[in-house]
Amino acid sequence: MVNAERFIELGIEEIGQSVKDKAIIALSGGVDSSVCAVLAHRAIGDRLIPIFVDTGLMRKGEVERIKKTFGHMNPHFIEASERFLGALKGVRDPEKKRKIIGETFIRVFEDAARKENVRYLIQGTIYPDRIESEGGIKSHHNVGGLPVKIGFDAIIEPLRDLYKDEVREVARALDLPKEICERMPFPGPGLAVRIIGEVTKEKLKVVREANAIVEDEIVDEFRPWQTFAAVLERGTGVKGDKRIHGWIVAVRAIESRDGMTATPMVLPWKKLKHIASRIANEIPEVARVVYDITPKPPATIEFE
Ligand code: XMP
Repeated sequence: MVNAERFIELGIEEIGQSVKDKAIIALSGGVDSSVCAVLAHRAIGDRLIPIFVDTGLMRKGEVERIKKTFGHMNPHFIEASERFLGALKGVRDPEKKRKIIGETFIRVFEDAARKENVRYLIQGTIYPDRIESEGGIKSHHNVGGLPVKIGFDAIIEPLRDLYKDEVREVARALDLPKEICERMPFPGPGLAVRIIGEVTKEKLKVVREANAIVEDEIVDEFRPWQTFAAVLERGTGVKGDKRIHGWIVAVRAIESRDGMTATPMVLPWKKLKHIASRIANEIPEVARVVYDITPKPPATIEFE
């Protein structure tokens, strides 16, 4: 990247020249789509239609956060959680889950684009997204992913050559709130890749609550590249004087430069014990908490 200010000028110019009419952008609340939306809004003003699809796979409080930060851009909210859960019913295979989520996302988005009669799509795809997808590691879907079939006149990806740390630099130069500039990456398929096997309402509730606790305990104090919780399988535990067959939750906190490789964070034992006790006490369905100490490679950052 040249430098953030110049990048912003060029980005606004590119969007302004490419979009001849209205454009649509999928806003997820992450730093990539936020930067893209702000650039686009500066370039084309209210010809931009930001769409937030509530997949039901988002983190706790996400819809409220979007309303607070992007309210002035008039985002459209599409409630589609039942559609996603329905499409994922009975599906255990990680790649199938990703494909279904990607495709459902496209269908929902396509409906919105058609309704708005929009010919231009702006996407926050960044360089590592392209590499990981092209390399066949996992089929990454970025919000909006695989839009080829939709038939837009043009798909504009202003961040296509940037690494994450460069996107954050641009976010700071755009004066985006600190919370967004420093926000951890969050996968397009959302909490579904933090659930081993079938996505159910119960597992979603557990993983959403556990993620909120982990973020609350780790983000500000340790500033990891990423930290989150995943729901594995069921295991036996004892709560009160009863044996339970509850969920096993894994906690992950990692350091990385670009997400391509990662090392587990060495967290104080006291902190880990505190997190385990909060998760087990605050979420009745949880029987056991483990800390994942595997680097990438061999493990990927996300569980699926
Ligand atoms: P993995 O799990 O492949 O993740 O080591 C590398 C980085 O990418 C994020 N990730 C995704 N991001 N769509 C995305 O936009 C996806 O399908 C996806 N899968 C993983 C992950 O959170 C990590 O930062």
